Parts: sequence; structure tokens; C-alpha cells
Amino acid sequence: MLKLEKVSSAYGASQVLWDVDLDITQGEAVALLGRNGVGKTTLLKTIMGVQSVKSGFISYDNVVISKHAAHRRAQYGLAYVPQGRGIFPQLTVEENLLMGVAALNGRDGISEKTIPDYVFELFPVLKEMLKRKGGNLSGGQQQQLAIGRALVTRPKILLLDEPTEGIQPSIVMQIEEALKHVSKELGVAILLVEQYLDFAWSFADRYFVMQRGRIIDHGATAEKDKDEVGRFLSV
Ligand SMILES: Nc1ncnc2c1ncn2[C@@H]1O[C@H](COP(=O)(O)OP(=O)(O)OP(=O)(O)O)[C@@H](O)[C@H]1O
Ligand SMILES: [Mg+2]
Repeated sequence: MLKLEKVSSAYGASQVLWDVDLDITQGEAVALLGRNGVGKTTLLKTIMGVQSVKSGFISYDNVVISKHAAHRRAQYGLAYVPQGRGIFPQLTVEENLLMGVAALNGRDGISEKTIPDYVFELFPVLKEMLKRKGGNLSGGQQQQLAIGRALVTRPKILLLDEPTEGIQPSIVMQIEEALKHVSKELGVAILLVEQYLDFAWSFADRYFVMQRGRIIDHGATAEKDKDEVGRFLSV
């Protein structure tokens, strides 16, 4: 479904990604692992189109999209939940979710005005806090809001950048359950950037390990010793 071939990317003269090959098929859960600063966020931005490709190709259903703008990629069904969440703090939970609804409209002739119920089934707390400002939610609730907003756009692929970072364990578990449901029941493909190896491992069908902007290992989680991958991540 999504395929990266020899993708390189740079900030000015400093190259961050080197010849990255990566693929995700429909409904699959894939973890992208790596230490701080290796280029994980840059890779997600490059897939989403907020960071440009220097060389190589990104294709979606065999169409090369490397030169397409981010909003066009969103229309193909790519959704991105940035690190640090990127919700609108001054808008209420409801308004934040309606921004997702607005983004969905026009795609494939869809016209929708309300927030779909499955978002509240996944994250009941969002229903309780509909009128509260995004900025007044806890970190974990903001993360749930950010994921909820991305799901409103009915993505085919969800790109998630460290959704458990700095979040209390009880909410991490809720997010974990919700993402498993989204992946297994709703059939949405997920590319998860994660430093919390246990979560990534319990969740993902396949993994990729990045080091200094290159993919140095990848495979099926079921066929790999988790601790061996852990050694790539510990400092
Ligand atoms: N806007 C930018 N301009 C210049 N360099 C940047 C920019 N954003 C990131 N970098 C550099 O690119 C490299 C990769 O950063 P990136 O944020 O992609 O890493 P990461 O793996 O997501 O790290 P973390 O685990 O800390 O989130 C780092 O050396 C970083 O300093
Ligand atoms: Mg990052």
C-alpha cells in the first residue's frame, strides 16, 4: 500500500535520512524504533509531505506521491499525529474533532457534519470533555484527542509519533487498547514511532530499526527476539 524506496531527506545541507526502504500493507501494524535524534520524526514528516524528499520515491497504491502536497496525501487516506500532539489548545475538544470532520469533507464525495460515534467508543473521556478547551486536558487526554481527530478523517494509514511519550501508565494502556482496536477491528494500517519497546512489540506485526538515518534492521516481531532489538535502543 505505502512504499518508500531509497528515500533521502535533508534540512538544508544536513542530510538526515539515507536510502530508507520501508513498506506497509493494508491493515498492518508496523513499529519504527530508534534512539533519540536518529530521524524517526523526519521520516514521518517526509511520508506525510511536510518535509520534502531529496531523492528516492514514496508511492501509495503504486502511485508516486513524493511530490504531492500534504493535503493531497491526506486525501489519499494518510493521517499524521505529530510528536507533541499538535491539537488546538484554544479550541474545545468538540471543535478540535470537528476540524477533523472538516478535513474529511470533499474526499471521495463524503459530506459529513458530525463526529462519528466510534471516536467516543474508543476514547469515552472525549465525550465527557467535549466543551473543555484542548489546552486544559491532561497530556494523555490531549494525546487521545489528537488520535481521535486523526481517526475522524477515516485514514487508511495512521502515522503516530511517540503517542506514549510522557504519559501516565494507566492512559498508556487505554491508548494501547484503542490502537489495537483501530488496527485489528477497523483495519487501519498504523506506522508507530515508539521508544517504549514493550508497547511497540505487543502491538506491531513488523518492526524497523533506524540508526543515524538508516534502516539497520527490520522483520516480523514474531520471529525476532525483542531483547536483541532492545540493544539497538539502549544507550
Ligand atoms: N527543522 C530542523 N532543522 C534542522 N535539523 C533538524 C530539524 N528537525 C530535526 N533536525 C535534526 O535531524 C535529526 C533527526 O531528528 P528527528 O527529530 O527526525 O529525530 P527523532 O528520531 O524523531 O528523535 P526523537 O526520538 O528525539 O524524537 C536530528 O539530528 C535533529 O537535530
Ligand atoms: Mg521524534
